[in-house]
Amino acid sequence: MELNAGFRILLYALLVITSTVGVAFVVFSWLLYRFNRKYGHLPCPRPTSFFFGHLSHINAVSKKMDMQTLTLMHQWMRDLGPVYCIRFILQPMVICSNPPTVKKVCLDSRHLKPRALYDFFYSVFGQRFLGLGLVSQVNHEKWHTRRALLNPAFNRKYLMQMMDHFDESATRLRDHLMPLADDKTLVRMLEHFNNVTLDVIAKVGFDMDINAVENSDCPFPSAIALALQGMDATFKNPLLMVDPRSKARQYRRSVRDAVKLVRNIGQDCIEKRREAKKKGEELPKDILTCILQAEDDVGNGEKIETADLIDEFGTFFVAGQETTSNLLAFTLLEIGRHKDVAKRLKDEVDEVLGSKSIIEHSDLTKLEYMSRVFKETMRLNPPVSGASRELASDVQSCGYVIPKGASVLFLSYLTSRLEEYFDDPLLFNPDRFIPTDETPRHFFAYFPFAIGQRNCIGQQLALIEAKVILAKLLQSFDFRLEQSQRHIIVSQVTNKPIDGCKNYISLRD
Ligand code: HEM
Repeated sequence: MELNAGFRILLYALLVITSTVGVAFVVFSWLLYRFNRKYGHLPCPRPTSFFFGHLSHINAVSKKMDMQTLTLMHQWMRDLGPVYCIRFILQPMVICSNPPTVKKVCLDSRHLKPRALYDFFYSVFGQRFLGLGLVSQVNHEKWHTRRALLNPAFNRKYLMQMMDHFDESATRLRDHLMPLADDKTLVRMLEHFNNVTLDVIAKVGFDMDINAVENSDCPFPSAIALALQGMDATFKNPLLMVDPRSKARQYRRSVRDAVKLVRNIGQDCIEKRREAKKKGEELPKDILTCILQAEDDVGNGEKIETADLIDEFGTFFVAGQETTSNLLAFTLLEIGRHKDVAKRLKDEVDEVLGSKSIIEHSDLTKLEYMSRVFKETMRLNPPVSGASRELASDVQSCGYVIPKGASVLFLSYLTSRLEEYFDDPLLFNPDRFIPTDETPRHFFAYFPFAIGQRNCIGQQLALIEAKVILAKLLQSFDFRLEQSQRHIIVSQVTNKPIDGCKNYISLRD
């Protein structure tokens, strides 16, 4: 009798599970059918998984590491043309590499950033991270007000006044690398660039002295890196959010702790500045002062919470640190692969700076070849993949109608490899950026800092910073790439060189 009852419960449980799975399957198939009706007219690579769509293919490729995600996208572009559609479970993503469409969409502020994509920035494993900071705010009016508030911290005059800080951080890095310049010690330059760019954004944006370059125990850089890694991991594998295994639970906890640490540092920093403001102290015109201005400027009964201000703190550290660090690492990688470029760069640095110990703003404009090297580096190795928009109306592109509501991804990596816009596109040739009187034909094919209103607010800061750091290092050192260093881009929120840009450093004669 008891066995019968047990058997019946088991049978009942099996029935419930089977029917739940069955209903889920039918609902999923119906949603997939709707998806195909809306996007089926667009070319699409064969999905490798019924449930995950192209996500599992992309993940398999990035795990293998011998083929980068961006290379896969490039291959699909060559096979399918400039417009194609991929699917992340039920989330479509149209990849468009047609520069006139880039122009049409990115210059039209009706097309907003896609909320589904930027939700990944809001919180990581349930812990608020970048919230609705300047990068992830998708509401146009709210973004516009905030951007106007923050612009003064990026104006040229203010950045020129910050030259001492750029130079001081670069000098600290140079001095830190001196004992390693024996041509024998293997140095992963990406780590050092991560530290120096953290020091710069902390000082220039928030008047904080972190000194990550000299202080290898500083938990801040690794917390930011772990938080970003968690964000990337959730995007690539949404099931990680609910994975019950203890390893996954431990990982989620460590990421949440990292996010908390970043936000706590932000809170301290904001509270200290509030105190200083209350006391009437003179405040620097930096990012933090501009962020705090939001508290005084709100109208319409809207209240700015401290959490909103901390969103901006995190946003600027994330947006301003790794990106510039990756630019420097990719540049060193390209210099190591092209000896002629390295020689011309050093000649220019010698001519403009000689042994001058403090680099001034007026020196930077004279480093013209270096500007072109950075541009060419970002053409082939963009530190940020591109820009995305959710279409507010149907858009015609290359004979297709991309439907209203579609999320469209514009990848500078793809458009920068189009032969119609760049002669011999795979050749590393900084001189293709020698300015001419005409508008360059690549104008909407090359957008490492994005395009339109939602372009990068920090691009001038990044280029000044990168120039000061690279010039300072090239004044003193020769770099030799370690032979096993591969030229592969790893996409983890930002794009970085695999292997950390391994080099041997020696002192220049
Ligand atoms: C080489 C370095 C950099 C590159 C390649 C880069 C690239 C980009 C790109 C492509 C976007 C658009 C992202 C999107 O659509 O979601 C962006 C936005 C942004 N960047 Fe940068 N960035 C760099 C450095 C910086 C620095 C140094 C800062 C700040 C100190 C910064 C702050 C921001 C912010 C706040 C946004 C959002 C702007 C808005 O929507 O109004 N970036 N950046």
